[in-house]
Amino acid sequence: MNYERTVNSIIGRVGITKAEAEVMAKYLDDGLHIEIGTLWGGSAILASQAKPGGKVVTVDPMNSGWWLSQDPVVGIAPSHEIVNLNIERLSGCPVQSVKGYSTEYLRGHEPCSTLLIDGDHSYEAIRADWFVAREIAESYIFVHDYDELHEGVLRFIDELEDYTWYRVDQAGSMLVFGRHD
Ligand SMILES: C[S@@+](CC[C@H](N)C(=O)[O-])C[C@H]1O[C@@H](n2cnc3c(N)ncnc32)[C@H](O)[C@@H]1O
Repeated sequence: MNYERTVNSIIGRVGITKAEAEVMAKYLDDGLHIEIGTLWGGSAILASQAKPGGKVVTVDPMNSGWWLSQDPVVGIAPSHEIVNLNIERLSGCPVQSVKGYSTEYLRGHEPCSTLLIDGDHSYEAIRADWFVAREIAESYIFVHDYDELHEGVLRFIDELEDYTWYRVDQAGSMLVFGRHD
């Protein structure tokens, strides 16, 4: 994984810190990695660079908020074309960018090895994402933005009682959950 090169070359920006990307990289393997919440493609690209093989699929409806106005951090709006350009230029293993809603796309999806939840951060949305993720992920689930700025994520995770998944690691606002054998 080349964090600096990706940050310097991506159109838009990367939404996770180097420490967060590194903790995720520790748990990625050769299987399928699914990501909820693409934005500019940054975290999907970093995941693909950290994987020796396999595939990354990232899903985002691309139809509200910053997609219609602009990402205030960089002053321009993302688009599917830009995401695909970023992927083409910077990814490691193959990355597929899907335009769609996480729960609609993932319900009944084939199993994946790892999955990152970084989409809609409201309590109801992360709850829905968690319950679809826990059904298809086989090894690890990552949850981003577990911090005071994202009350919905904080509250859902703090209330969570899931006897199959337990917290194994954290860096910054990135949590890693592993499956009990
Ligand atoms: C914090 S950004 C993702 C940042 C990206 N993972 C990164 O680190 O580079 C959140 C994204 O989630 C998307 N999103 C919102 N609702 C979603 C949903 N139901 N399913 C998938 N993505 C969603 C938004 O459009 C936005 O692009």
